[in-house]
Amino acid sequence: MASYLNSSMVLSKPKQPASHLDFLNSQHLSSWSPITSVRWRTHHQRCSVQVKVRASSSMGKGLKVMISGAPASGKGTQCELITTKYDLVHIAAGDLLRAEIAAGSQSGKQAKEYMEKGQLVPDEIVVTMVKNRLSQPDSAEKGWLLDGYPRSSSQATALQAYGFKPDIFILLEVPQEILVDRVVGRRLDPVTGRIYHMTYSPPETEEIAARLTQRFDDTEEKVKLRLQTHNQNVESVLSLFEDITVKVDGSLSKEDVFATIDSALSNLIKQKNATLGMAAA
Ligand code: AP5
Repeated sequence: MASYLNSSMVLSKPKQPASHLDFLNSQHLSSWSPITSVRWRTHHQRCSVQVKVRASSSMGKGLKVMISGAPASGKGTQCELITTKYDLVHIAAGDLLRAEIAAGSQSGKQAKEYMEKGQLVPDEIVVTMVKNRLSQPDSAEKGWLLDGYPRSSSQATALQAYGFKPDIFILLEVPQEILVDRVVGRRLDPVTGRIYHMTYSPPETEEIAARLTQRFDDTEEKVKLRLQTHNQNVESVLSLFEDITVKVDGSLSKEDVFATIDSALSNLIKQKNATLGMAAA
């Protein structure tokens, strides 16, 4: 297990349901700017709450994060929260592929055939797409948050060969029976890009509810195929990142999941700063 992680972070469920304001207690609060609003409905309270999250301009600077997990384990949801706080460039392999499909490109057409079957899109499409996005100046400057990549050892090796090495590999662990329910209820807001769930994270207004869309691969039948693919590949990827892996219980509320990730990232930043300080001394 990564050394910057306290064992309590991954092994135990918080005794109290974490407050939606927990992460505002961060020691980094004073250096945040500007303010971004995030609104969600917690599992513990059925009322909608709005919190002010200050996006950091520098605290996560240069951080290189990979987040992995089964379909609907909450990668995208956590990425929204992580980027809001740490201001990393969010690169989601699935989103890059869907953008190609929407653009009607040849790669998009090919990719859709695999996505329809819940299979991995071939490396020659995915690796180049991800590498090109990682190579853009904003990723190098701000740091990156890679979501849903690598999904095979060949993808991991390809990235390393291009010189992209993560500081931390976050794995969201969620029991299979919960995943199907999450997939089927998921909806996306095409205007804001936000992820909703009709039960766990319902839209805040009628206007938003009316415009929500569903992904073409979000059916019970397709998610089972996607899960099979994930289960076949996850171990080979994990074995390559063992020393920097942080396993997080993704079945908790999204606020509690984020609290664990937030602690791991804060500790990692502290550790990196300490190492830099020692090198400068
Ligand atoms: P991709 O788009 O990456 O899909 P996925 O991996 O199946 O993951 P999802 O996006 O479905 O889920 P998520 O973990 O982001 O969950 P979310 O936060 O939305 O990939 C799609 C396809 O593209 C693949 O099948 C493959 O074909 C291809 N592809 C992608 N990457 C590839 C690669 N590297 N190589 C080759 N092919 C690739 O949450 C889900 C729902 O649950 C939401 O409704 C949310 O509101 C809810 N929720 C989230 N967290 C919680 C919580 N803690 N409690 C309750 N509800 C929650």
